[in-house]
Amino acid sequence: MKKITIAIDGHSSCGKSTMAKDLAREIGYVYIDSGAMYRAVTLFALKEGMLTKDAFDTEALQKRMGDIRISFRLNAETGKPDTYLNDTCVENQIRTLEVSQHVSRVAAIGFVREAMVEQQRQMGEAKGVIMDGRDIGTVVFPNAEMKVFVTASAEVRAKRRYDELTAKGETCNLDDILQNVVERDRIDSTRAISPLRQAPDAIVLDNTNLTIAEQKQWLLDLYRRIAEAD
Ligand code: CDP
Repeated sequence: MKKITIAIDGHSSCGKSTMAKDLAREIGYVYIDSGAMYRAVTLFALKEGMLTKDAFDTEALQKRMGDIRISFRLNAETGKPDTYLNDTCVENQIRTLEVSQHVSRVAAIGFVREAMVEQQRQMGEAKGVIMDGRDIGTVVFPNAEMKVFVTASAEVRAKRRYDELTAKGETCNLDDILQNVVERDRIDSTRAISPLRQAPDAIVLDNTNLTIAEQKQWLLDLYRRIAEAD
């Protein structure tokens, strides 16, 4: 079967990465988490003191963009790719609520997006790739053969993220997470550059009432239909 490009976009915390990772494993594709890249840039800015609750020195970040190298390496134990920032594994650090609370501001900056989109296109050049994010079907790979737009109710999404963080041992509050999910959607959808939009040729998946197994099957069926017809 010919290799295709699969773009999965949608709202915050709706399980895009879980479904994309599962499908990639099942069909032997490479999975790329574009959100992890924006999270890694955010972590860098926080660590370097360029970004705090009250201030963001974007000029300082722009000067240092060349010092940010992001890569993905397969973790043999989990069987999933881990995110590396300048050769340090930051997979857990980029998933904290602190990073979530700043990431959408960082991802709205033009020079950050330009740098990330360029890397994402290079990573996807060979096809046989599944990438998830906000602008994959609209900007990064507008010619992707398969595009899915995922959504679910904000309450269900917040609960899923709460369960995920709690399972990792992070102490968190469901209301704070709900607020973050809603706020990120607002910033992501209203920003001037590459706002979160459903591509006209994307197929919508509302997974509010679907189990992980059900959504996996839905995605696999769609992939087979598209790849076989292509
Ligand atoms: O928490 P969730 O898995 O929903 O988000 P993520 O995919 O890790 O992305 C984190 C943030 O990065 C998003 O809220 C967006 O602000 C930004 N992002 C983006 O602007 N463009 C992308 N292609 C991917 C993520």
